[in-house]
Amino acid sequence: MNIEALRAQLERWMHQYYVLDAPEVPDAEYDRVFQQLQALEAAHPELVTPDSPTQRVGGAPLGQFATVRHAVPMLSIRTETDTEASGAAAFDTRVRKELGLKESDPPVAYMAELKFDGLAMNLRYEQGRLVRAATRGDGEQGEDVTQNVRTIRQIPLRLPAGAPEVLEVRGEVYMRRDDFEKLNERQREAGGKSFVNPRNAAAGAVRQLDPAIAAQRPLSFFAYGWGEVQGWPDEPPTQDGVLAAFAAFGFPVDPHRAVVQGAEGLAAFHARIGALRDRLPFDIDGVVYKVNALALQQQLGFVTREPRWAVAHKYPAQEQMTQVVGIDVQVGRTGKLTPVARLAPVFVGGVTVTNATLHNLFELRRKDVRVGDTAIVRRAGDVIPEVVGTVATERPRRPYVSNFHMPRQCPVCGSAVVREKTEVNHRCSGGLFCAAQRKEALLHFAQRRAMDIEGLGDKLVDQLVEGGIIRTLPELYRLGVAKLAALERMADKSAQNLVEALERSKQTTLPRFLFGLGIRHVGEATAKDLARHFGALDPIMDATVEQLLEVNDVGPIVAQAIRTFFDQPHNREVVEQLRAAGVHWPEGPPAPRALLPLAGKTFVLTGTLPTLSREEAKELLEAAGAKVAGSVSKKTDYVVAGAEAGSKLEKAQALGIAVLDEDGLRQLLPDAAGG
Ligand code: IVH
Repeated sequence: MNIEALRAQLERWMHQYYVLDAPEVPDAEYDRVFQQLQALEAAHPELVTPDSPTQRVGGAPLGQFATVRHAVPMLSIRTETDTEASGAAAFDTRVRKELGLKESDPPVAYMAELKFDGLAMNLRYEQGRLVRAATRGDGEQGEDVTQNVRTIRQIPLRLPAGAPEVLEVRGEVYMRRDDFEKLNERQREAGGKSFVNPRNAAAGAVRQLDPAIAAQRPLSFFAYGWGEVQGWPDEPPTQDGVLAAFAAFGFPVDPHRAVVQGAEGLAAFHARIGALRDRLPFDIDGVVYKVNALALQQQLGFVTREPRWAVAHKYPAQEQMTQVVGIDVQVGRTGKLTPVARLAPVFVGGVTVTNATLHNLFELRRKDVRVGDTAIVRRAGDVIPEVVGTVATERPRRPYVSNFHMPRQCPVCGSAVVREKTEVNHRCSGGLFCAAQRKEALLHFAQRRAMDIEGLGDKLVDQLVEGGIIRTLPELYRLGVAKLAALERMADKSAQNLVEALERSKQTTLPRFLFGLGIRHVGEATAKDLARHFGALDPIMDATVEQLLEVNDVGPIVAQAIRTFFDQPHNREVVEQLRAAGVHWPEGPPAPRALLPLAGKTFVLTGTLPTLSREEAKELLEAAGAKVAGSVSKKTDYVVAGAEAGSKLEKAQALGIAVLDEDGLRQLLPDAAGG
């Protein structure tokens, strides 16, 4: 394929993926063609064009943005603050009056759209190429943010044949709520500053002087209007028609838009979208009504800087101020302690909110939230309401109620509260014993890779815990058929099956049991390492941090987590009761290190081996002390490749990692296994 065909192919795939949400090829195929284009451009730098898909990664950082004068001013829009249906009727009445319509005249057709909560952007295309992206600014002049906007995959860098010679598409750059939550989660984990809301995060990304940073911020776009247009012989005569044409040119246009008739149609749209608002993947602060016929828009014209043919009809705000009356701590399913602000009831985002998360101690300190403060609370969609900040000037005079402290003991079970050095979250160490963590602990214990208790799933665990039937793990083994069969939706047969599954699970292995305990940082691999190293459970429970550090792949954080777990008397008691209930496993002497020829080596398996199954190869390797990982990285020592090995093999070759076949693998294994 020539360079132009490669680009066209990639742009088409990107449109399918980012705009239509219907990818036609797997990601790997996209990556392959993308790399092909990159290689071609590297070999022929003179062929690189600014609209090449490779240019979406962001160029050099800027000192400041250049100012851009808009060819057609970017107007604002009149806001109807009456959030009821009457707000829609008032607009329709004004329009009819301006147009000189009589009561007997038919209803006016409107385009009803969502009012996206992001920032307005003007995208200028000349001869079908994106030449400039500019913010609204003061409406007359904005900032040239082309470099950053190029990184938004939803925005086409070129338009198909038949597009106008000059086309300015206007719309909203925004951040989806899930992308925003993920970004903030990342920021919080890194101990960085989180963003107040998706709009601020989007605005910050667009105005990033370093496009490489902007490229990492997940932005989206919806087209809803236009500025200068030249050379569009078949320009549609309606707002609706123009938006449909934009969609055909490759722009994302929101599918909720609708052509509606008269005041009733507007009010029905407002109500319908209002009911949907929480479930939308992005924030809206209202809907926008526009007279659909462009000829009528022209006739209506403008008052000062607002069109008479459009209005924004709002919804209740998603951010409000209220008093903080207390700060509590909640313990989550996984033991995380979250400070929660108790609030004077406030109506926000359509519901009354009385508490809001503060995420963690560091967020709370950064936002400097204290009892008695006036806080800004945000509730959007089904996301948990959160305190996004305080209003400094509204803080009452001293004395404050003392500053918040994280409790040293879990408020639910009394176990020690711990926080690891590199973590922002405090956690309860009472895993097995803590009521807040019961469900999670049971599910973890019962899962296939742990005790493998067939039939003990989500719903049953809910029933058992909520019905007060089970409070601790050992009580599982005291469940009788009669007790189980008495549960709702539980047939005698299933009760019998579960009791049998429980009985079977009693005979297990030490790694499975250890993993099932749900000790923080002790996954399957670490459980195996521990079992191999110590041979039995008691020496693990009594091991010092130093002794634990001697285990393959166990570092200070993991060692401390194991120590803390077994330091909780409640956790030890649970272990004893499980053993007393008959849970058992074979134990042996500690493994002498020298007998493990592959200790410390990491393997990756790929493709089909001639005689060994993936599982068998893994067991042989692990028995020899090796670790088997799922993906190839610089840390991989060997890749064992069989027939139809795919991208893992390619990656190994690219990284210069040793590749073995089954024979090669057997040669590394001790004789007994080499067989
Ligand atoms: S039309 C002449 N339509 O709301 C009309 N604006 O002042 C110009 N907005 O910040 C605006 N969704 O970015 C229009 N569907 C929509 C919109 C929308 C959001 C924003 C726009 C501007 C403000 C309007």
